[in-house]
Amino acid sequence: MGKKNLRDSWTNRFGIIMAVAGSAIGLGNFLRFPAKAAANGGGAFMIPYLISFLLLGIPLMWIEWTLGRYGGGFGHGTAPGIFHSIWRKNRFIKYFGIIGIFGPLVILIYYTYIESWTLAYSFFALTKKLTGLTDTASLRNFLSGFQGIEQNQFFDNLGTAYFFFLITFILNISVIYYGIRGGIEKLCKIALPLLFFFGIILCIRVLSLGTPHPQHPDWNILNGLGFMWNPDFSALKSAKVWLEAAGQIFFTLSVGIGMILTYASYLSKGDDITLSGLTAASLNEMAEVIIGGSIIIPAAFMFFGPQDIHAIATSGTFNLGFVTMPSILNQLPWSEFFGFLWFALLFLAGVTSSVSLAQPAIAFMEDEFNLSRKKAVTIFGITTFILCQPAIFFLKNGVVDELDFWGGTFLIVLFATIETILFGWIFGIHKAWDEIHQGADLKIPKIYKFIIKYITPVFLLSILGMWLVQEWWPFIIMKNVSPENQIYVLSTRIGLVGIFIVLAFLVKLAWRKKRE
Ligand code: ALA
Repeated sequence: MGKKNLRDSWTNRFGIIMAVAGSAIGLGNFLRFPAKAAANGGGAFMIPYLISFLLLGIPLMWIEWTLGRYGGGFGHGTAPGIFHSIWRKNRFIKYFGIIGIFGPLVILIYYTYIESWTLAYSFFALTKKLTGLTDTASLRNFLSGFQGIEQNQFFDNLGTAYFFFLITFILNISVIYYGIRGGIEKLCKIALPLLFFFGIILCIRVLSLGTPHPQHPDWNILNGLGFMWNPDFSALKSAKVWLEAAGQIFFTLSVGIGMILTYASYLSKGDDITLSGLTAASLNEMAEVIIGGSIIIPAAFMFFGPQDIHAIATSGTFNLGFVTMPSILNQLPWSEFFGFLWFALLFLAGVTSSVSLAQPAIAFMEDEFNLSRKKAVTIFGITTFILCQPAIFFLKNGVVDELDFWGGTFLIVLFATIETILFGWIFGIHKAWDEIHQGADLKIPKIYKFIIKYITPVFLLSILGMWLVQEWWPFIIMKNVSPENQIYVLSTRIGLVGIFIVLAFLVKLAWRKKRE
């Protein structure tokens, strides 16, 4: 093998915090979180959510930063190499690490497409294509016409959506082409402050809405916020609420996926991770709970009332963001401006996350095959462009939902479980504790030693166990998939297994080459 590439690095601590927060703050904060919270009764969701944040989110955040920095010290930026550095005696552990490249790739191939809708809708808002659409039925038609689900007065084919997908895809590839410091870090340092600025303006607008329906004086901002924040302890008995809350914490913090491992691998041994990790996680929670929780839900509460919120949230993942929100904004003065702010906020959140979903695959090629960034990005661009196509053309057949289940839910919990056990039990909690605190600017409370070793893995294993008991079989036999869509779902699964096998082969090849 030729000479090793010099690995890229972050400019400074602010750079990596912005990048990790950018990865975390995404469509999950502003679309997924409100939908999950509203579907699970608002305040009933928030207790399991906050407990999951403390017992799963925070520990995993530290675990991934630590594993990433440790692996980076051996020149590995992705889970196969990082896991191998932790447990050298085990020949198979590197294959478990494949999930840390496969998972982000699976999310990326539908995430980029959804992100491109937000770019398209920002453009529609500015060019007044959405103006006057105040009823949800028209906006729903608009969305399904745009997605190519039906031909209607708004769109007669998928051309517009495809055009915006191409722009978004090219933009993502261009950012990763410029690398960690020159691309991702620069993007996040601009996009993230802008996103917070847009979010604050939208919050102020929503919080000053008054009572839009005088005939329903109780549909007001205080009750809207109360819907989100009044705790409901009875929900603690529901396994489903726990699963959804824990799943949301993983998705939103970008933990259990693999990207933070890769980002942290570009740190040096003496760089702080305890305070930086906590800062990035807190920024994410601020964006999610304060901004994400104060825009759609209270606004929808005031316009549609408490009964309808639940129905809207459960009627489709994208309805709150692409139907409810524009229908509300279109009833206000300056609707084009606020519509643009809303979708631009989503786009900024999306793009800073999608570049992070791409980075593990790029780092794998650079680190393990010694490819130049140009070559790695070219191979990555061509492959993922092809892989994105089924999500675009077969959205209505359930392909995106299937990809989201594997990439965005199941594999995250599985991967997090593997990481936690490796960290607390194989690496060993005492060594792990020393490693976390190398160069640390914040001493982690000792209780987390116990949490990381016992509570987090037990919590994760219980979630996996509950899922296996309650959902595994109906899921495998596609009980909830309509008969005409089963072939698409099955093909997606076969495709995913194919990608996994190719990655496993590449890992084998990389290690064989290393021995030569
Ligand atoms: N963490 C990213 C999000 O919330 C993936 O969208």
